Amino acid sequence: MTTHIPVLLKETIEGLNPEKGETALDATLGGGGHSRALCARIGESGTFIGVDADEDAVLRAKEILSPCKARVILETANFRTIARILDNHGIKAINRAVFDLGLSSFQLEESNRGFSFQRSEPLLMTFEKNAPQEAVTAYDIVNQWREDSLEAILLGYGEERFARRIAKAIVSARREKPITSTDELVSVIVQALPWSYRNKRLHPATKTFQALRIAANDELGALKEGLFECFSRLAPRGRMAVISFHSGEDRIVKLFFKEQKNAGAAILISKKPIIPSREEQRENPKSRSAQLRILEKI
Ligand SMILES: C[S@@+](CC[C@H](N)C(=O)[O-])C[C@H]1O[C@@H](n2cnc3c(N)ncnc32)[C@H](O)[C@@H]1O
Repeated sequence: MTTHIPVLLKETIEGLNPEKGETALDATLGGGGHSRALCARIGESGTFIGVDADEDAVLRAKEILSPCKARVILETANFRTIARILDNHGIKAINRAVFDLGLSSFQLEESNRGFSFQRSEPLLMTFEKNAPQEAVTAYDIVNQWREDSLEAILLGYGEERFARRIAKAIVSARREKPITSTDELVSVIVQALPWSYRNKRLHPATKTFQALRIAANDELGALKEGLFECFSRLAPRGRMAVISFHSGEDRIVKLFFKEQKNAGAAILISKKPIIPSREEQRENPKSRSAQLRILEKI
């Protein structure tokens, strides 16, 4: 059975330091790990707002948070629309907020949406379970984007050193027939790489899959908007915590926090990013690349 182990849980809750009666937001419900801990701290007089783009995460949270005594509001939505969600519920300000970015173990292992290169699944990679017709999917990117755009995302979002070779191989393969599944894509990637690169510890498709997922969900665009909206609704002395998993995300968080600090609008609770202890990394290898930053509004 799949479980999602919350990353940097103790450090996030200690850093946010939520108190009884406060309003807390979890912008990325996932498996509900951080939500449960936040809810327990704000108690029955608190208000909890949980958001996830994936309706399965929201359904899961409903169950996990059923013992929670706080007022609980759950929304299937993109966190770039936080302000509208708060408006819809008449909530003016929040005291604590967490963003735990990327995808959950449930999405990786059970969603059948093509996040994993270890299964044969359709190439979707959308966080939304029932993405609208017009949503960009990994299939669209792989089969329709120009070679130079493919190369750019593999390089920019995946830091894939063989971006050019992989982009070329994808375009050449799709001339024969569309690439429709994860295993077809994996085989195109593997064949594009030099032999010496095929048996490394990191699976050769890891970076390409990361890049496609980020592009399909416009993850960096959503993050910029989500951080801005969340900060604008943070109460004075309110805190927000962001856990990122790759350098592209962390750069955005670091810059946003620095801008608020330089503008005299916030202080940094963590001067440097907090990373998982060796013990956590050993117990949960998925936590290895995590970096936590926390800010307090003045
Ligand atoms: C790493 S998981 C969160 C795990 C959670 N903190 C826990 O401990 O169980 C990330 C979640 O964020 C969601 N997500 C990512 N980007 C999002 C966005 N822009 N808007 C809403 N949800 C998003 C994903 O669907 C996924 O469920």
